[in-house]
Amino acid sequence: MKNENCWWKETSIYQIYPRSFQDSNHDGIGDLRGIISRLDYIKDLGFETIWISPFFSSPQADFGYDISDYKSIAPEYGSMEDCESLIAEVHRRGMKIVLDMVMNHTSDQHPWFLESASSRDNPKRDWYVWRDGRAPGKAPTNWLSQVRGNGWQYSKKTDQWYWAAFLPFQPDLNYRNPEVKETMFNIIRFWLDKGVDGFRLDIIGALFEDEEFRDNPFSPQLIPTGETSDKMFRSTKMVENLPETIEFTKELRAVMDEYDKRFLIGETFGSLKDLREFTGDKKPDGLHATFLFNSIYTPFKAGKLRNMIRRYEEYFPEPWIPSYVYANHDSMRRMTTFRNNEKKIRLQTLLQHTARGIPVSYYGEEIGMKQSTIPRSQALDPVCHEYNFLPDILFNIVERLTHGSLNRDGCRTPQQWDSSKYAGFSESESWLPVGKDKDTINVMSLSKDPDSLLNFYKTLLKFRNSSKVLKKGKLTILDEKGKILAFERQEKEESLRIYMNIGNRKRKIKLPAPMKIVLSTDTERLIEQHKEIELNPWEGVILS
Ligand code: GLC
Ligand code: CA
Repeated sequence: MKNENCWWKETSIYQIYPRSFQDSNHDGIGDLRGIISRLDYIKDLGFETIWISPFFSSPQADFGYDISDYKSIAPEYGSMEDCESLIAEVHRRGMKIVLDMVMNHTSDQHPWFLESASSRDNPKRDWYVWRDGRAPGKAPTNWLSQVRGNGWQYSKKTDQWYWAAFLPFQPDLNYRNPEVKETMFNIIRFWLDKGVDGFRLDIIGALFEDEEFRDNPFSPQLIPTGETSDKMFRSTKMVENLPETIEFTKELRAVMDEYDKRFLIGETFGSLKDLREFTGDKKPDGLHATFLFNSIYTPFKAGKLRNMIRRYEEYFPEPWIPSYVYANHDSMRRMTTFRNNEKKIRLQTLLQHTARGIPVSYYGEEIGMKQSTIPRSQALDPVCHEYNFLPDILFNIVERLTHGSLNRDGCRTPQQWDSSKYAGFSESESWLPVGKDKDTINVMSLSKDPDSLLNFYKTLLKFRNSSKVLKKGKLTILDEKGKILAFERQEKEESLRIYMNIGNRKRKIKLPAPMKIVLSTDTERLIEQHKEIELNPWEGVILS
């Protein structure tokens, strides 16, 4: 178990959605060469690791999360040579690269599935989860897919049903078959041999299903939350976070440990207890980290945030590590969640990069990109069309309650580099329309304004990168009441304090000794040294 003092514990991650980051050949679709041309930007921002959503061969029915060949690159994104130079260019800049591995399912166009579906006695039949219906026309169990209704898909040709935890065209692989497991481990080794530093594991909790195919019991939950994926009054007990899946992640970890210093971060849903199990219950011998999505669901209130941090610390104490994530390609842009209140965004960003954990950011967050409104009828996101039966009013309510997971086009529009027609993303019409605010919200304009959100990110990341205390130090929540959220970070003799005023009135804080403000979300604040400090509304500071 190689776990000591590894880079991933101290890193900061920047997620790229390759289709939307930078188009280099002007077909309106982002690509690997485009990413290479922007690596200096990411480096200069201060991020140390990039995670790129899938760019493997795919019919793109779910924009790459439906893979048809794990060892080749989708032509619109580039070639294997491009990928190799991307890895080399990332490393040349002293950064790390994490790929997105979709192990749970393939595309229904993957040759494995085409074979598997062709006949009941095909050698690949058992590579997927096939089962007889309960009765003619009735699915084998009551299991729901992660998207909406029944996750079993009937295949007329062989008169059986296959299980698909996400969308119907994403059949689940059968990991009870040792051949599947070995094949997948070799795919992992193929990429590790190419030098990638790790993987983000797509819906990894869905890997195994109940061996006896028992029905899921009742659950009081109508809509999923940050800590359960139960929904529509149905538990996910038989299809999520099974002991076999936890066991599998340990085997996968062992494959990673054949190599030096590699990293696994899981896209997992469930209680903190479940997530802790993924990272190893007794010792950290599972995934190195998992995304903790509570932060997306936790109201931005001092008490709630204090409690969230306390629980993260409780479940992921040293040598485990929590993660802090607010946005990704499946969820609403935070600027929209916060109704364009940039002060709140800055506070959230301060918390994310000063708490003990791995901060994960999504492209465009650094400039405050907003959720675009793409009409449902024109949506490219296949998930959106699964909800065509909902009237607009209900759709919008569920969309809010699930933080934008119904029409994900809105958070996937092209990165806004400048104010030109396609925002510097491309010279041709982009695959999704560029944000309407690209004239003002773009990298070029914001980089010229010293007080901009973009420059705040840079200052904060620069500070974090040079601070042992923030990278390694332990975290203690300070006993502040009410709307002040405060904690201390400490490493050996050094310490820092973070105070955040989560409210719209000025508030005084008393300190045990005079301290210096070394960074503030209010960029115009001068460096001061005091025993008492008055924080502005929605201001957060780092004190030393
Ligand atoms: C994950 C991905 C999402 C994808 C789904 C199916 O939730 O983040 O974008 O559609 O898995 O692979
Ligand atoms: Ca392109």
